[in-house]
Amino acid sequence: MLEPHSSPQNSSLPRSGLAGPTPQVAVEIRRVAKHFGSGERRVMALQDVDWDVYAGQMSLIVGPSGCGKTTLLSVIAGILNADSGSVRIFGSEVSAMSDRAKTRFRARHIGFVFQQYNLLPALTAAENAAIPLVIAGWSKAKAVRRAKEVLDSLGMGKKTENLPSQLSGGQQQRVAISRALVHQPSLLVCDEPTAALDHETGLSVMELLRESAVKPDRAVVVVTHDNRVFHFGDRIAHMDDGRMIQVEDRTQVAA
Ligand SMILES: Nc1ncnc2c1ncn2[C@@H]1O[C@H](COP(=O)(O)OP(=O)(O)OP(=O)(O)O)[C@@H](O)[C@H]1O
Ligand SMILES: [Mg+2]
Repeated sequence: MLEPHSSPQNSSLPRSGLAGPTPQVAVEIRRVAKHFGSGERRVMALQDVDWDVYAGQMSLIVGPSGCGKTTLLSVIAGILNADSGSVRIFGSEVSAMSDRAKTRFRARHIGFVFQQYNLLPALTAAENAAIPLVIAGWSKAKAVRRAKEVLDSLGMGKKTENLPSQLSGGQQQRVAISRALVHQPSLLVCDEPTAALDHETGLSVMELLRESAVKPDRAVVVVTHDNRVFHFGDRIAHMDDGRMIQVEDRTQVAA
């Protein structure tokens, strides 16, 4: 488990305290639309999407290939600008920010995990995991020390000096998760984090995400089309053809 630490990174973000029976809305998406291309090539990737993501929960976005999952995740994370609509993250309206403010917000408050890990091959596991802290201005030595603690908490304590090429796929994904969590982001977004992994390793990565990233004042959004990991979701948002067609609340099922 990650221990709270006293970095200034998250200090400007409003926090709600514990999520009680009515969890706090972490991400509020309203009437979001996004198209790509023009003329005959114009594709409506997102149409009129409304969705609430709750703190203290893992929310999954599922749906067929091309339905808009990655586009929605990218809009939530401020990587892509929507054509219209709004995205608020813990009360901050990301959709209204300048590109520069958005980049700063992202660096402080959002962690990413991708299908293909995106680790830098010449850096050790610890150096890779330390990157967000170095970007935030930490000294390399302090950042690597902190990254090693996070790697250790994810069962990677003996591999901190390994290069990515010296790690298995599941271990590389653990390094990528450590990198995403090292600055204690309020929102963790993951795009198909298990797609490059065998089933067993995929399950253990999902378990790890639940254990290490689902906290009362944080939210996790995972895009997947692997129905073998659907049971990890507290909420499952089903998309089709750019629209949010149904949101299942599995916390009620489990209760
Ligand atoms: N940069 C782009 N330029 C043009 N069209 C795009 C671009 N990115 C996505 N699209 C289109 O937008 C639609 C939604 O794409 P998106 O990548 O969000 O789907 P997805 O649900 O993540 O699919 P997959 O499960 O295959 O990853 C698709 O029709 C896709 O072809
Ligand atoms: Mg995708």
